[in-house]
Amino acid sequence: MFCNTVSVALLLFSVSSNAQLTWKEAYAKAESAISQLSVADKVNLLTGQGGASRCIGNTSPVASINFPGFCLEDSPLGVRLASNVSAFPPAINAAATFNRTLIRQRGEAMGAEFRGKGVHVALGPMMNLMRAPAAGRNWEGFGADPYLSGEGAFETIIGMQSQGVQATAKHYINNEQEHFRTTSTSNVDDRTQHEVYAIPFIRSVQAEVAAIMCSYNQINGTYACEKDETLNGILKGELGHQGYVMSDWGATHSTSPAANAGLDMAMPGPSNFGSALITAVQNGSVSQSRLDNMAIRTLAAWYKLGQDSGYPPVNFDSRNNSAPDDLGVDVQGNHKVVIREIGKASTVLLKNSKNILPFKNLQSIGIIGNGAGPAARGPNGFPNRQGNDGVLAMGWGSGTANYPYLITPVEAITARAAQDGTTVTSSLSDSDLNAAAAAASGKDVALVFITADSGEGNSPVEGNAGDRNDLFAWHNGDALVQRVAQSNKNTIVVVNTVGPIVVEAWIDHPNVTALVWSGLPGQEAGNSVTDVLFGAYNPSGRLPYTIGKSITDYPAQVIYTSPTPILTIPYSEGLFIDYRHFDAAGIAPRFEFGFGLSYTSFQYSGLSIRGSPRGGQAPSGPGSALDPWLHDPVVTVRFNIRNTGRVAGHEIPQLYVSLPASTNSPPRVLKGFDSIFVAPGRTQGVTIQLSRLDFAMWDVIQQRWQVPSGRIGISIGASSRDIRLTGSV
Ligand SMILES: *[C@@H]1O[C@H](CO)[C@@H](O)[C@H](O)[C@H]1NC(C)=O
Ligand SMILES: *[C@@H]1O[C@H](CO)[C@@H](O)[C@H](O)[C@H]1NC(C)=O
Ligand SMILES: *[C@@H]1O[C@H](CO)[C@@H](O)[C@H](O)[C@H]1NC(C)=O
Ligand SMILES: *[C@@H]1O[C@H](CO)[C@@H](O)[C@H](O)[C@H]1NC(C)=O
Ligand SMILES: *[C@@H]1O[C@H](CO)[C@@H](O)[C@H](O)[C@H]1NC(C)=O
Ligand SMILES: *[C@@H]1O[C@H](CO)[C@@H](O)[C@H](O)[C@H]1NC(C)=O
Repeated sequence: MFCNTVSVALLLFSVSSNAQLTWKEAYAKAESAISQLSVADKVNLLTGQGGASRCIGNTSPVASINFPGFCLEDSPLGVRLASNVSAFPPAINAAATFNRTLIRQRGEAMGAEFRGKGVHVALGPMMNLMRAPAAGRNWEGFGADPYLSGEGAFETIIGMQSQGVQATAKHYINNEQEHFRTTSTSNVDDRTQHEVYAIPFIRSVQAEVAAIMCSYNQINGTYACEKDETLNGILKGELGHQGYVMSDWGATHSTSPAANAGLDMAMPGPSNFGSALITAVQNGSVSQSRLDNMAIRTLAAWYKLGQDSGYPPVNFDSRNNSAPDDLGVDVQGNHKVVIREIGKASTVLLKNSKNILPFKNLQSIGIIGNGAGPAARGPNGFPNRQGNDGVLAMGWGSGTANYPYLITPVEAITARAAQDGTTVTSSLSDSDLNAAAAAASGKDVALVFITADSGEGNSPVEGNAGDRNDLFAWHNGDALVQRVAQSNKNTIVVVNTVGPIVVEAWIDHPNVTALVWSGLPGQEAGNSVTDVLFGAYNPSGRLPYTIGKSITDYPAQVIYTSPTPILTIPYSEGLFIDYRHFDAAGIAPRFEFGFGLSYTSFQYSGLSIRGSPRGGQAPSGPGSALDPWLHDPVVTVRFNIRNTGRVAGHEIPQLYVSLPASTNSPPRVLKGFDSIFVAPGRTQGVTIQLSRLDFAMWDVIQQRWQVPSGRIGISIGASSRDIRLTGSV
């Protein structure tokens, strides 16, 4: 369905690959199958076995319908707790490519690995938004913009499910910090819920995602896994989700309230479901028809993905990869190719004065910083990557996978430099500033690697309990950069980080000539950054979040202490997260959302806008979020991009929509992007199509999407602030 010869920013929602059944066909099979099942059989489909089992989540087999039980396994970046698997770049770097093709390919490759291990249900993608810049799991998602996150989720789900694996869109919903995640309530107004937090889930439902995971937190005072308004109301009603809803691990807090509000499967179980659900059906507090619906949704996902025939049996053991039932099947294929490709395409060049990059004719390179080298314990030395030593290529927690290997920058750069006869000197300590200065001094360039880490949960790493304590580089990274910059007039800073860090201590230092944002690139980390530094790849990555000058410039923060048993998290910034706030409040960021440099330059011209978002009957009531009225393309935007420099490269044009001021909307919101390859001197046409949803607001009175009246601005830019062409509808 997806056409990528030119840009098509919008996709219709019937995207089943040939091998897949439609939901309708899958429902018919599931309805027929459950007619043979007892209440206990149905409850088995819906209840995790709990305790220590082979996969991180397991349901029981039902022999009469040849149902093997589900194996559910983390994570959003690869198969967790398994051997001979790949460690893909996390979603935050996938997002930084702004390239749907690469995000799709990553999903396909991850899907192939889950399938190869016999996993039925992969627990990703994760799409919580970077509302608070220090929040611990931000790197597991696609950044701070709902549209970008939605496109990332869509492509990932299509890619994974094309391999026959069920994807799980998570965490539904408003799960945007780690502190008090199980004892907090996210209080979100209805318009913000729809226009910001629901968007990635709308796109997931359009991708026909099999499963959605409800989150740990409460919403307006009710646990997410028993919140009728968000599960039955928004997700299954408005959005039309046809698959099932599972709880996050331990996030089921009741039996009939949860089941009646729309929860279908309790993980890891069995508490609250299992025998309690059988009793609840027997005593009528959960109806027989609701139980049937829960079972049908679950079985339909299994039939839809074709898992009822020829699916590999589970062949690993997440508890112990050396156990006899773990066959160590190698599922990596040639995935390192797409991993390296995403690694380089997600590298964001933020500063390049004197065109110091790419390297030309260097005699000598100094490499400084612990983040350039290996970890003392090896890449998997910390369980769940819960430590920050050596090159940082993913955060910590359940959103991880074991590295099959991890290419360090120092080894990749040394190998590449040898081809040119360039000498490399390194100092891989963050604390020995004299050694850093010595390694930097007298070299043609000095590369200094700094990091910032975060992750899941509340077991602290270097004093950070999941969420970061601040936005500064770890290990006194600012002091390391400053010391190197005193000693070398071509200091190039490379940052491996989970999100924004404040760079004010040194960004304007005259000797800091370049800043390369490597993010979290996965197992090929060293090779990816080397490709960019030496010019084998012309950088095209763009920031999927804003880098502010101070943490207080951001509109929302992690709340670190709770005065009450249940912490209230008011989403009072509303629609204005990340760049939407910086733009509305007139705050100058250090580097804006969507920004990134190239080794060439591009010129934009020839904007044409055809069509109108108005007209026709607005949908209302259940199913409206999938209504073709909302999603069919109605406006076509065309323009040209010319490569005015000397090298070929990808430009990332971005389309921002500005609703009339009377709507109290952010000045500009992202509603389209593409990744366009242009040879030097050549011009490439770009087409972006927009749907009514791209122009719509959620009307809280009418409870439906509406296109506001008045002039709506369309801006085409190379970032959220570098606007090159403007028009309107
Ligand atoms: C949460 O409360 C706000 C404020 O009253 C309201 O606008 C919103 O619709 C509520 N959301 C849900 C899902 O209950
Ligand atoms: C029915 O069973 C459920 C689950 O065991 C229990 O929580 C509930 O109190 C019971 N209701 C009645 C009316 O017996
Ligand atoms: C893993 O399995 C192997 C082989 O059965 C066994 O020797 C080892 O003790 C197990 N490790 C753990 C931590 O249980
Ligand atoms: C697969 O993993 C096992 C450990 O579980 C290891 O012994 C074996 O060498 C691995 N095979 C390959 C091809 O990497
Ligand atoms: C820049 O580096 C040179 C060494 O190459 C040094 O002499 C100079 O003092 C540095 N500048 C600053 C402002 O530290
Ligand atoms: C995405 O990245 C690939 C690989 O670098 C490139 O070939 C392609 O032109 C990019 N853009 C799109 C839209 O696929």
